[in-house]
Amino acid sequence: MTAAPSSTSNQTVLCGNGPIRDSWHPVARAIDVGTAPVAVTLLGTKVVLYRSLSGDFVAAPDRCPHREAPLSLGVIEDGCLICPYHGWSFGDDGKCVGIPSSTEGVPPPPRAHLATFQATEKFGLVWVCLGEPKVPLFDIAEEHDPTFRRINTPVELWQTSATRMSDNFCDITHFPYVHIATFGGAQDPHVPKIEMGPLDEHFYGYRYEVKAANSGVASVSSGQTESVIDRAMTTGFTMPFVVRSTIAYNTGLSHIILMLSTPIDDVTSYFTFVIWRNDDFSVSAEEVIRFDLAIGAEDKVMLERLDGVLPLDQTTLVSVQADKCSVEWRRRLIEYMGG
Ligand code: FES
Ligand SMILES: [Fe+2]
Repeated sequence: MTAAPSSTSNQTVLCGNGPIRDSWHPVARAIDVGTAPVAVTLLGTKVVLYRSLSGDFVAAPDRCPHREAPLSLGVIEDGCLICPYHGWSFGDDGKCVGIPSSTEGVPPPPRAHLATFQATEKFGLVWVCLGEPKVPLFDIAEEHDPTFRRINTPVELWQTSATRMSDNFCDITHFPYVHIATFGGAQDPHVPKIEMGPLDEHFYGYRYEVKAANSGVASVSSGQTESVIDRAMTTGFTMPFVVRSTIAYNTGLSHIILMLSTPIDDVTSYFTFVIWRNDDFSVSAEEVIRFDLAIGAEDKVMLERLDGVLPLDQTTLVSVQADKCSVEWRRRLIEYMGG
């Protein structure tokens, strides 16, 4: 008897993987990070985040070099991060600039400084790279189009791996099952042949048409009143855990959804949506996102029922033609991770 391949093979362990550490990951909504320190965890590393006096974000290890106190429990005073334990202070570049217990004029020991991480703001989110970013962050054309508005949802914590999430977001065949209570009830479970290709400069995926149930809160999002409506959609990905779906309604309304998964560790993740819409802005952002949040909650319930990480090799899981997008994302992720 052949032993089943382990789902904790090197390919599926994200935390120590160099290329994943060298990638940008969204860790918080920009509006949730101000001049008070905030604690996040990325790839098993505890990180303290705050906005500096210059308006830039600062990300540093959430561990004081003195006695390991969490710096996220400290305060920012005069632009410096102050440790809550013995009051050592750190500048935006991580330099230790003050040790209250030391004699004036004695410089801090060289190892008292924090090795900060790169942090940047994009699409209303704070992105952090623990290593050296090899590629710039991708772009979304609608971010620069004044006819579109952007809506960010709060960052949620999901008890599942980022790999299972991205796999799910590439997949439309679960719509009539997992999303039966929101929009999936009108969809034919049979998926026509999927043709993969570049969707634009950054995203690779496929185009398709679906019928969507359109009752209740769904009709607010679609701006239509019929019980079943047509959607022309694309779904595609960019490395490592970014999936985008675009929905075009025949009224001219476009609804772009970015689905972002960030590994807190191998089996826990942050999740957030970023949405762009070319509507007339008459419906509140809260109402628009209520429908997407309800859909996300359905995925979360299912994914949290699955054990461990997604096996990334091509033989452990069984796939069919309709899984083409998630299989291709998985293949490219293995390559990306150097597997
Ligand atoms: S642990 Fe931070 S100053 Fe002592
Ligand atoms: Fe889903």
